Amino acid sequence: MNIANIAGQLTSTGYIVLDQPLLVSLSTQLLARCQDDGPVRFQAARIGRGQENQQINSIRSDVISWLDDTDSTDHAYFAWMELLRSGLNEALFLGLFDYECHYAIYGVGASYAKHSDVLNGNRNRILSTVYYLNEDWQASDGGQLVIFDPTGDTVIATVNPTFGTMIIFLSESVPHEVLMANTKRRSIAGWFRVRELAH
Ligand code: OGA
Ligand code: MN
Repeated sequence: MNIANIAGQLTSTGYIVLDQPLLVSLSTQLLARCQDDGPVRFQAARIGRGQENQQINSIRSDVISWLDDTDSTDHAYFAWMELLRSGLNEALFLGLFDYECHYAIYGVGASYAKHSDVLNGNRNRILSTVYYLNEDWQASDGGQLVIFDPTGDTVIATVNPTFGTMIIFLSESVPHEVLMANTKRRSIAGWFRVRELAH
């Protein structure tokens, strides 16, 4: 992992797309964990936290399962993210404190409307990561991630959710949207956080 390059691009453009940052063997194990008909439990995703926590299918219609550090595959993913966390803290003095992430599966017809990852109750999210697990992805499969400039008016990039692609972006200033999936779409979404801010 080239921390200087990641830090530089986050600073200049607010996001970076990495091609195959993880070993293919780990990605294959992560894909095996991201199956809603397997032993891993998935639940409908919710928006916001605590009292604002609600499920609105028209905005967000994926199912999720939080990674479990006691599982060896999930642990390997957390270990890579820990290297990234400590490297970015050294390079950019971000004070990133921890990392949380979940598997997500979008069924056919599912999408996630344009949003910022810093919703009420999530103000301590600083950097977002998404790692894609879709083998043989085709444009007709849909589910692209569209990212916007901070005003939310202008598209700055469209990212194909292909196996082994990772995007890292600033949680607050990069509005984004997941286009409708035409086939099952698998990913791991995560957030580096600072300590809880006072309310
Ligand atoms: C999210 C999200 C993007 C993606 O989970 O908040 O925006 O491409 N995910 O899955
Ligand atoms: Mn998001």
